[in-house]
Amino acid sequence: MAAPAAETTWTRKHLLDLESLSADEIGVILDTAEAFKDVSTRSVKKVPALRGRVVVNLFFEESTRTRTSFTLAAQRLSADVIDFSAKGSSVAKGETLGDTARNIEAMGVDLIVCRHPASGAPHLLSRCVNCCVINAGDGRHEHPTQALLDLFTIRQHKGRIEGLKVAIVGDVANSRVARSNLWGLTKLGAEVTFVGPTTLVPRTFEQFGARVCHDIDAVIGEFDVINMLRIQMERVTSNVFPSVQEYTRLFGLNGQRMRRAKPDVLVMHPGPMNRGIEITTEVADGARSAILQQVTNGLAVRMAVLFLCNQAAGG
Ligand code: CP
Repeated sequence: MAAPAAETTWTRKHLLDLESLSADEIGVILDTAEAFKDVSTRSVKKVPALRGRVVVNLFFEESTRTRTSFTLAAQRLSADVIDFSAKGSSVAKGETLGDTARNIEAMGVDLIVCRHPASGAPHLLSRCVNCCVINAGDGRHEHPTQALLDLFTIRQHKGRIEGLKVAIVGDVANSRVARSNLWGLTKLGAEVTFVGPTTLVPRTFEQFGARVCHDIDAVIGEFDVINMLRIQMERVTSNVFPSVQEYTRLFGLNGQRMRRAKPDVLVMHPGPMNRGIEITTEVADGARSAILQQVTNGLAVRMAVLFLCNQAAGG
């Protein structure tokens, strides 16, 4: 059984991945998020925990959920927030990531939230600056706060993570969400199955503790949670399946497949969704879907991450 987190203190000023976190540390974040969840339901949706601190969103890739969620989370903690986009900045003139971050830090920034198309970019940043660095998604590597909000949502619905059977379906090869979920879920004692075509779900993932399956219909009845991944057209580099229609027919989550799933199965998707490709509207908006709850929970989880990293930095 995963050890209770109550006695564990958080000492990291950066959140770069879930691979390096212990089950206790993940538990501390989830429990802290639980405490912050109420803030969003109050008439005054603010606490003073980060008053006087400055958070910069350093995003080199598109985002709707993560960027907005980090902005709101920082505002609800009473921090000042700056939104940086690579487009329109001196990055276009050739400035390096390290120089960009050091210049931003020189203006008195306390926490940098970074999304970057290159795997490892937030890790590099954490070695360039003294302030806190939080990974908001790096290439195909990790998206730790997405997995944390997924864990939070699963725990909210199922009351536990340990012993659950979780399917992660689709473009695993290109998915930072799948990697972070694998680390988080397995550390907390869940059993993870990656499902998809051989080109997107290679057997190599077995060495990291996942079961690999290429036939969703053979296993769909086993799962407590089904997390559908977006087909990432921008990262798919070659013809990895014959056609989108073929992919949808073989792996898409639709009403017919849902009737063979457990009656209390929880359906998740990190967004943005390709409706009608990896998931039908009937399922995405159906009674078993937690997709919008994931987004809601993301706010509390990101408040917890900002709060804990700032506290570990002595803020
Ligand atoms: N889930 C997620 O990372 O969504 P965005 O790309 O919109 O931030």
